[in-house]
Amino acid sequence: MDSNLAYSLDQFTKEKSGVTRLTLTDFRNYQFLRINAELCPIVISGENGSGKTNILEAVSFLTPGRGLRGARLADIKRIVSQCIHDEYGPTAITPVNWAIAAEVCKGEELINIGTAVEQSAREAGEADDELRSFERRIVKIDGNKVSSQTELGKYISAIWLTPQMDRLFRGGSQPRRNFLDRLVYAFDTEHAKRTATFDHLYKEWYRLLKEGKQDNFWLSSLEENMAATGVAIAAARREQTARLNTFIEHEPDDVFPSVRLELDGTVEKMLDSMPAVEAEDKYRQILCKQRRNVLYNDNVDGVNRTDFKVYYRKKGMPADLCSTGEQKSLLISIILAQSKCQTLHKGFAPILLLDEVVAHLDDLKREALLEKIKELEVQAWITTTNPELFLSLKEDALFLRVENNTVVS
Ligand SMILES: Nc1ncnc2c1ncn2[C@@H]1O[C@H](COP(=O)(O)OP(=O)(O)O)[C@@H](O)[C@H]1O
Ligand SMILES: [Mg+2]
Repeated sequence: MDSNLAYSLDQFTKEKSGVTRLTLTDFRNYQFLRINAELCPIVISGENGSGKTNILEAVSFLTPGRGLRGARLADIKRIVSQCIHDEYGPTAITPVNWAIAAEVCKGEELINIGTAVEQSAREAGEADDELRSFERRIVKIDGNKVSSQTELGKYISAIWLTPQMDRLFRGGSQPRRNFLDRLVYAFDTEHAKRTATFDHLYKEWYRLLKEGKQDNFWLSSLEENMAATGVAIAAARREQTARLNTFIEHEPDDVFPSVRLELDGTVEKMLDSMPAVEAEDKYRQILCKQRRNVLYNDNVDGVNRTDFKVYYRKKGMPADLCSTGEQKSLLISIILAQSKCQTLHKGFAPILLLDEVVAHLDDLKREALLEKIKELEVQAWITTTNPELFLSLKEDALFLRVENNTVVS
């Protein structure tokens, strides 16, 4: 198959990167699982419910956030069903703590990443007077606990496509915004911290207003911080969208249709016509004016409501009006563009986590996707119920099969 890559990746120095060993302990259906992986496509097959997506989810936890299912930490722990015995009452499950350890390779470097939950007491000074225990995800890099998950971005990044994302372009904007923000993280690791900070400030502001605590000084201080963080978020989103659009414009049309990306957000729009400092001031004023929206349960406008719009470039068609198959192809276009763009700019590719992606592609598209994965030299973790669809990767991929809560080669 002809290479359609307009920028040849061969002209650039790039480092191969990915996970070379993955160890799961009490994670979802795995009591203990170790996978020795290679920096190549990894095809994971198995029956429905065998634990394929759980492996991809574990890899996604090597990046900041809640992983590809957006899971609550408590749901990830392996649930062990016990014999329900009359004498012992109805306690049928015993949750245990989970951990993920990975050896990550980036060029010549080998990095050990560990992540797990930790029980800790809620910080003093929070509104709840009682001291409650809560769980948080901790991250260790080469044995040292890091203060922020953002640190992970230096060594690893991942992009995923899951069956749930088939509906990404329809319905509410939050999943689209999250998708976009993850594309930004890969280029600007601070972005993960910014979005987490904004969410934290926003929740605090919202809670104060809902509880009717009119502490003007505290509210203003929160608004000032939200405005500063929000403008930084908007600027980073604009930068990434522009970067991808420019990149895509130079790529020839392909089996996967070319996209055009747009942002629809008040703060992002402000930055069209004013410098960041002015936008911060204006955003602060907008937030202050919206205090009453919280009381009346009206929407609060700002970076928390920005929409990420995708168009089928050639047709000028918004993605939500495209057919289901076209929408899938548009998503594939975006992640392929992002992977290549990232390799060219950052020197290392993201890991691709493709959950049941080929099931609904026709033969031509499936083979084109597999060819692109080979060309990009990315580590792609691909799940399938039917490994026969991957014959063309026979020489290039690692084939794993999930059975009885373990993996066989
Ligand atoms: N916390 C948990 N503890 C134990 N098993 C779990 C947990 N969460 C999900 N599972 C099990 O994992 C299986 C689903 O795994 P998944 O990776 O989604 O399967 P698939 O191979 O279809 O992708 C289900 O059988 C489910 O019961
Ligand atoms: Mg699955």
